[in-house]
Amino acid sequence: MAVLVTGGAGFIGSHTVVELLENGYDAVILDNLSNASEKVIGRIEEITGKKPVFYKGDILDRACLDHIFETEKIDSVIHFAGLKAVGESVQKPWEYYENNIAGTLTLVDAMRKHGVKNIIFSSSATVYGDPAEIPITEKCPKGQCTNPYGWTKSMLEQILSDIQKADNEWNVLLLRYFNPIGAHRSGRIGENPNGIPNNLMPYITQVAVGKLDHLNVFGDDYDTPDGTGVRDYIHVVDLAKGHVCALKKMEEKPGLKIYNLGTGHGYSVLDVVKNFEAATGVKIPYEIKPRRAGDIATCYCNADLAKKEMGWEAQYGIKEMCEDSWRWQKNNPNGYDS
Ligand code: WQD
Repeated sequence: MAVLVTGGAGFIGSHTVVELLENGYDAVILDNLSNASEKVIGRIEEITGKKPVFYKGDILDRACLDHIFETEKIDSVIHFAGLKAVGESVQKPWEYYENNIAGTLTLVDAMRKHGVKNIIFSSSATVYGDPAEIPITEKCPKGQCTNPYGWTKSMLEQILSDIQKADNEWNVLLLRYFNPIGAHRSGRIGENPNGIPNNLMPYITQVAVGKLDHLNVFGDDYDTPDGTGVRDYIHVVDLAKGHVCALKKMEEKPGLKIYNLGTGHGYSVLDVVKNFEAATGVKIPYEIKPRRAGDIATCYCNADLAKKEMGWEAQYGIKEMCEDSWRWQKNNPNGYDS
C-alpha cells in the first residue's frame, strides 16, 4: 500500500518522503511545482536509492486525483500541498482560500469516493494566534489568526474535524508544526524559497552565502529576554520523522488527534544568529528594523502529547539545525537551480 504525499516535492514534503521510503513505505508524490523543483525527485532517489512515483498536478484537478487513486494503491494521504506565504496571503486572499480550502475539499471528496479515509494534515502553530498560554499545549484554545494563510489552516482543521465527526471511518491527524528549519544532513535537499525569503533561517543562509547583504531583525522591543521574537525552531528531519510516527499511529484507527510538533524550546532571533555564527564560523551582519505586521512576541510548545501518544520527540538541537541549513545553502547557493 502507498502513501499519497500532496506537496511532496516541497521543503517539508521532500524530507518526509525520504523518511517514508527509508521506513519501507511506498510514496506517491502529487505536486504542481508552484513552489518546488522536479529536481528534488532525483535528489530523493540519490539519498534513499528508491524513486518515488511522481505526478505533476494540482489538488484542485479532480480528474488528476481520480486517476491517481485509480492507478495507485493509496492507503493514506499526507497533505502538505497549499500556498503558505503569510505576507502574500494578505495581498491575495481569494487565491489562498481557493487553493487551500477548495483544494483540500476536492482532495477529501476524491479520497472518500475511492474509500481512502486516512489523512495527516499539515497544520501550523499559527492557528493559536497570539497564544493564550506558553508553552503551548494542544488544549490551548485556537486564536485569532493575523492573515488569510493562518485562517486557511484553522478552517481546514475545523473542516477535517467535522468530516471525521460525521463519519467515524475517517482517521484525521492534525499536526501543528512550529518553525521548521534545517535540511537533510546530505546537503542534497533543503529549503528553496521563491524570491526573497520571508522566513528567518533561509534569509540568514542567503546572507551567509552572499546573496543578501544583511539580516533585518524585525523588532527588538518585544517582551522577550533580548527583545527579539522567540520561536520554537524544529529540525525539518525531526518533523519528517513525526509523520512516520503519525502513519504508525494511523494503524490504531485513532479517529481525530491533534499534535504539536516542536522542540519545547524557544530561541530568539538573536539566539539563532549567534548559534548560526558559532556553528558555521560565518558572520551574519544585521540591522534592527521596526516590528513586522502580524508578528507575535513568543511562540513555543509543550510537545509531551506527541511523545506520549506517538512515541515521537525532536532529537536535533539548534546547532544541528544551523549546521544542516548552512550545508544545504553552501552546496546549493541557487537552490535546485544551482
Ligand atoms: C521567525 C522570527 C520574525 C525574518 C511563519 C508562519 C508559520 C510557519 C513558519 C508555515 C520572527 C523574525 C524573520 C527576517 C526577522 N510557516 N524574522 N527577520 O513568522 O514565526 O512563522 O513561518 O507554516 O505559519 O507564520 O517565522 O521565520 O518568518 O519569523 O527578524 O528576515 O524571525 O520577526 O520573530 P514565523 P519567520
